[in-house]
Amino acid sequence: MKAVRFHTFGGPEVLRYEDVPRPEAGAGEVLVRIRAAGVNPVDWKIRAGYMREMFRDRLPMIPGVDMAGVVEEVGGDITGFKAGDKVYGFLGVAQSGGTYAEYCKAGYFTLAPMPESLDFTEAAALPLVSLVGWQTLFDIAHLDKGQTVLIHGASGGVGHMAVQLAKWRGATVIGTASARNADFLSSLGADEVIDYHKVRFEDVARDVDVVLDTQAGDTQQRSYHVLKKGGILVSTLGIENPDEAAKCGVRATGFLAQPNGTELRHIARLIDEGKLKPAVSTVMPLRDAARAHEQSQTGHVRGKIVLKVGD
Ligand SMILES: NC(=O)c1ccc[n+]([C@@H]2O[C@H](COP(=O)([O-])OP(=O)(O)OC[C@H]3O[C@@H](n4cnc5c(N)ncnc54)[C@H](OP(=O)(O)O)[C@@H]3O)[C@@H](O)[C@H]2O)c1
Repeated sequence: MKAVRFHTFGGPEVLRYEDVPRPEAGAGEVLVRIRAAGVNPVDWKIRAGYMREMFRDRLPMIPGVDMAGVVEEVGGDITGFKAGDKVYGFLGVAQSGGTYAEYCKAGYFTLAPMPESLDFTEAAALPLVSLVGWQTLFDIAHLDKGQTVLIHGASGGVGHMAVQLAKWRGATVIGTASARNADFLSSLGADEVIDYHKVRFEDVARDVDVVLDTQAGDTQQRSYHVLKKGGILVSTLGIENPDEAAKCGVRATGFLAQPNGTELRHIARLIDEGKLKPAVSTVMPLRDAARAHEQSQTGHVRGKIVLKVGD
């Protein structure tokens, strides 16, 4: 099959479009013919060697952790999927066999039927970022109707799904983004958009129940001061200074997204009911993965970049 791989850690130029052996589905696994793959910042971080201790033994490696496609065949013991089903899924970061490819094998528990109202490109934009929104806001922070959430990086992959999920739950949503993304976020339902270039968010946001932090650093530190006592900050990038949270009387926790086909089924239902919508800003062919990584590395993507696989 055709796939994108890197043989050494490095810049986007290490990505090669080449022929590689097609994976085979083992027991409990599904072989998926990929039609589109999501591009997530973790893809270029792994490629650049940020987690080289974890991935050194896996070179040459196919990047990519989520995708949408069609079931080609199922391994033994699987009853929930059959050849020809349209599916989408997040394979997990550590487990990933890579989705920048024509085929991948996936644990059956990582997959769900694709939302019926989406094409492959839109569906591939969803798995990781929608699970991040679901797991941080609902599974960890238990965000409830009537509460207020501050979402940093609200116009990005994670943020734009989190804004919509929080609104669906009945929360008041404050998002940080550049001014050029204000209308986009309002269209997704954000109640207030703070231009982080011009306004210090702590001058506007107060007594917040939940902060979803996608930026770390100074943004994370300052966020503790906008939470009400007992409030919670969940960070996709880990907690740098837990003592600061304790001093403010708030909770802080890092987070690592988990594959979850059951949650993806809930998300597909919300999509088909018109409650959620992925925003795909750029679609590129698989062979242009290096260009996609360059764009992702700017840190200023609106919504998602998706790689189209095949015709
Ligand atoms: N732990 C996990 O399981 C997990 C899972 C998914 C993602 N992540 C991590 O979470 C982070 C976000 O992921 P993502 O997919 O949302 O990334 P992304 O799509 O690249 O996020 C881009 C967005 O960030 C915004 N942004 C940049 N600087 C900002 C700032 N200082 N304040 C507020 N917004 C800012 C940009 O808005 P403007 O263009 O308007 O500036 C842009 O829309 C990444 O570092 C990723 O690796 C972790």
